[in-house]
Amino acid sequence: MTAKLVVLVSGSGSNLQALLDACADPAYGAEVVAVGADRDGTYGAERAAKAGVPTFVHKVKDYATRDEWDAALTAEVASYEPDLVVSAGFLKLCGPRFLDAFPGRYVNTHNSLLPAFPGMNGPGEALAAGVKIAGATLFICDSGVDTGPIVAQCAVPVEDDDTVETLTERIKEAERAQLVESVGRMVRDGWKVEGRRVVLG
Ligand code: GRF
Repeated sequence: MTAKLVVLVSGSGSNLQALLDACADPAYGAEVVAVGADRDGTYGAERAAKAGVPTFVHKVKDYATRDEWDAALTAEVASYEPDLVVSAGFLKLCGPRFLDAFPGRYVNTHNSLLPAFPGMNGPGEALAAGVKIAGATLFICDSGVDTGPIVAQCAVPVEDDDTVETLTERIKEAERAQLVESVGRMVRDGWKVEGRRVVLG
């Protein structure tokens, strides 16, 4: 059975593109059934439209309260009955309603080796800290900022002449491969969350 993915984006959507490309092979075991964004005009939504995947937008500012935004986003994502919801460059923290609707089935990819450098500037903080290894983390979302149980991590070197841009790009390349590999394993083989540990297969 082909697993249904809903992917949430805020920007360029290169991680989304990697998933769309992987899903073109039936053996991958998943299909992207919808792409949601928190703002208009994302390149991610354009990529989805090009692939013939339905898109939707829910902007926080269009709702009276954050809770109402969360409810609307939850209802729309749930309407696609996803097996897995993937936050790929989605710059919003979802609320309790959303987390309750997709328990253990909402993952996020982040561009640092968590628990180091959570938040919006992973590569910049890694450079500033002088670490020699950076990377990306796929994790199951909880109510914190980049605090959930870790599904997978991949490392890249930090070079002496790196800028935030060069390091960000090196991380993103590894991050996309990891996302495709891990989501594929999750949907094909299943996964369990045992406390802080995520076990695949
Ligand atoms: C990823 O590196 C993610 O970790 C970070 O934003 C980037 C999203 O890139 N939060 P894209 O939109 O998938 O190209």
